[in-house]
This record gives sequence, structure tokens and C-alpha cells, in this order.
Amino acid sequence: MRQCLSPEHPSVLSLPFATLAVLFAGGPAVAVTGDPDPAVTFAKDVAPILQQSCQVCHQVGAIGPMSLMTYEEVRPWADLIRIQVESRAMPPYHYDTGVGIQKLKHDSRLSDDEIRTISSWVAQGAVMGNPADLPPPVEFPKAGVFRLAEEFGEPDVIVRSTPYTVPANGQDLWWQPTVEVEGIPRDRCIRAIETKPSVKGRAVAHHANSVWMVPAAPGDSGSVNGYVRQGRLSEYALGKLGEVVPGDACRLAPADARVTWDIHYYPAGEEVIDDQVEIGIWLYPENFNPESLYSQTLASYGLQGGDFDIPPHGKLMTQGFHAFDHPVRIDSFQPHGHLRLVGKSLEIFNPQTGRRELISQVSNWNPGWHLSHIFEDDVAPLMPAGAVMVLTAWYDNTENNRFNPDPDQWVGTGNRTGDEMSHAWIAITHLDQAGYERLLAEREAKNPAPVPASRFRAAAN
Ligand code: HEC
Repeated sequence: MRQCLSPEHPSVLSLPFATLAVLFAGGPAVAVTGDPDPAVTFAKDVAPILQQSCQVCHQVGAIGPMSLMTYEEVRPWADLIRIQVESRAMPPYHYDTGVGIQKLKHDSRLSDDEIRTISSWVAQGAVMGNPADLPPPVEFPKAGVFRLAEEFGEPDVIVRSTPYTVPANGQDLWWQPTVEVEGIPRDRCIRAIETKPSVKGRAVAHHANSVWMVPAAPGDSGSVNGYVRQGRLSEYALGKLGEVVPGDACRLAPADARVTWDIHYYPAGEEVIDDQVEIGIWLYPENFNPESLYSQTLASYGLQGGDFDIPPHGKLMTQGFHAFDHPVRIDSFQPHGHLRLVGKSLEIFNPQTGRRELISQVSNWNPGWHLSHIFEDDVAPLMPAGAVMVLTAWYDNTENNRFNPDPDQWVGTGNRTGDEMSHAWIAITHLDQAGYERLLAEREAKNPAPVPASRFRAAAN
């Protein structure tokens, strides 16, 4: 966090927008200059990187547009691969390097060394090398399976939306069925959640949000068919993997509940018959007592920047603020936006110290990939009561934004793909003062120096 407050790195908010656009245009790229490393070959150096970071999507039947399994398949794409990895467009994990918290769970970014290896290989003519150096092939999960199953096994509970047919062409569509949930007869704590569109529906299921509905108690207002809303189950948008809850927090799976979906479909040129979206839920063991743990919520906490209009060929920056009256830990950050969003950052401002710290920034936003950036347990920011989360979003409605379908349009806030949004999905563990002090002390014991001047202690990465 110190970077953000030092004179060489003036804080984001004090800069005029024009400067921001320059500062954040694409994030730091790794370029190879001078003599490239002499003997970089596909067999020895590049194939292991592709196995590890690319092939899960780039094989026949997976979501990538081409297969990158063999030298013959990879060679024609070498130049484009170099461009995509140097700009950090691939693998698709869009998150700024060098600023904010860098220790993240499920972080699929390439290291600078790996990017240099690929660049040198292409610069030297993209040779095969000695086939005897090739690593043995890797076994991948089949298309359409839960990706978190690799880590946690099959989900304990699967919630399916009611079938819905998406036409080949037309406008945005919303599908909001309520379904029963089997297999949770008493309150449980969630370990992980993954929302998974079907293989055929992946291109049309843009968002799929889900909320818990629990049996209404006498006198509850807002009851629908005897059930009332109780918190969010999950949030999914194109390209997202899932959510993992830290072991000291309880994200509640309430007993005897139903789930109400809010699925946003967008026709993509081919009819998809009877599409169903699935949520896999992994539970902590039954003896995890929800009441003895701090609760975790996933919400947007009113952080969006209000109503706005972006003029044709114009730019805009919005900000939203939120403070809690108790200490909290921020467990994850997932920016949300559509086609004119360019970047988003999350900061913490502490009015007691006057300091502001950058937590996370995504300045190479890509609307095809919505990722939840989950902080490693020992660096998830701890926020004292009264500190303010500051969410900044910036938009580019000019022709310079490569995702902009039409710079001549006014763009307002709204749910349609051509409208814009300014919120983020943030997982928060709600602490009390004792829990907050304990976590601070634990981190200090693990990492005694240097003691940060502020009280956030998130800077330990
Ligand atoms: C999570 C899945 C995923 C992973 C991992 C992934 N890709 Fe991709 N890749 C895609 C998809 C999907 C596209 C199509 C464009 C898009 O949706 O962003 C794509 C597009 C590309 C393109 C551009 C193709 C074109 O015609 O423009 C290149 C090159 C590429 N990927 C290379 C790589 C390399 C190299 C890696 C690993 C270092 C990698 N990808 C990792 C899913 C993935």
C-alpha cells in the first residue's frame, strides 16, 4: 500500500481524468529488448507454460477459439500469442500488476519471466527444439464440469435454473425462476460457490445472480408465496470462476430455502434450447457452527456512483463510498461493468489518519471476463470501523475503446448490455473489535517489520 501514498505515485483521486487515461492505458506490459535469451525452444521452455496456463481453454471443445496443444497448432499463432501475453490480455486475468494487493487466490497471470520466455521464443523464430524435451501431456477436466471440483471434489449441492429457450436474435432477456434447494435441512456454512452456464449456453448467459429465499416468519413483510429474501447466494458474469470463503467466516446456506435466479440472457446468433444454469455449492462440515463465526456477505454495498450519462465520444469517472460501523475484512473484489467501462479501483480512506490506500485496480478491463479477485488470507485488507471504501470507475465512450460498439451513442446507467454500471461485488467478513485486533496481532506476529504507518496492515505483500 505504501506505493499509493508516496510522492512518486500520487493517489488516483487527485489526478485529472486525462492523466488517468494515460496512466492506466493497458497496465504495465513486459517487452523484450536487447539480446534475447539464446536457446529458447518450444519443447523445453514454451510447452510447459502453455500446458499450465493456456491449454485448459485452448483445446478442441473448450472455450478458446483455437487449440494450442501441439507445436504444429501453436506455431501459426506465435506472433499473436506474443502480443496477447505481452499486453496481459491472455491468459484472461485482468488485474494490475505492481499496484495494490498482489497475493491472490486462483491468480492465473503469467509471471514476468514466463512472458519474457514466450517473447524471446517468438523473437528467435519460434523453433521446436528437441522433441525429447517435451513435457508429458496433461489431463484436463472435461468441458462443462465445475472447475472448482478439481480442488474441492464434486459439489455437495447443485441448484439448477428452470429451462429457458434463448432465441437466435433479439434484445436482452431476463429469466427469474424460483427453484427448490434439496439437501440443506439445517443452516450450514458455505465453503465455495461456482455458477456454471451450460456448454451450449455459455455465449448467451451474461449474468446469473441468485438470492436465498427462506420461509417467512409470522409478520415478515415482503413475503412472496410464503418466502422472504435472505441475502445473496452468488453472482456470476461471463468468464467468472467462482468464490471461495475463508475458513474463519461463515457465508450462510440457510435451511429449507429456495433460490430465486436473475439470469440475463443476450441472444448470440444461434438458438439455445432449454438452457439451464447451475450453481455448485460446497459446504463446510456440519460441525461448523454459523453462530461462532463471523458472517461473510457478498454485495455491492451502495458503492455505485449514482445515475450518469456518458456523452458520445466522451469519457467519465464515477465514485461511490461506503463505511461500516464495525470493523471488517475485505475478502474479494470483482469489478462490474459493460462495454464502455475501462477500469475500476478500490481504495480505503481512513478519516482517523487521513490516509488513503489502494487495494486493487483493474485498468485493463475486458467485458468478456468478469473475475472475482480473492485476496490471500494473510493480506485481505482489515478495515477499522468508520473507514471508507472508495470505488472509482472510469469509462471511455470514444472510438479508442476497442470494445465500444458505437461511440455516437449516449450511454446511461442500466441493465442492458449497451448501458453501463458502476458497482463491484465485494465479499466482506463482518468482524467485531476483538476479532479485528486479533487478526492484526496475528499478522504482525507473522510479519513483524516493517510496521505500516496506517492501521490497515494490508501492505504485507
Ligand atoms: C480461461 C480460458 C483461457 C485461457 C486460460 C487462455 N485463453 Fe486465450 N482465449 C480464450 C478465449 C475465450 C479467447 C477469445 C477471445 C476472448 O474471449 O477474450 C482467447 C483468445 C486468445 C487469442 C486470440 C485469438 C484471436 O483470434 O484473436 C490468443 C492468441 C490466445 N487466446 C492465446 C492464449 C495463450 C497464449 C494463453 C496462455 C498463456 C491463453 N490464451 C489462455 C480463452 C482462454
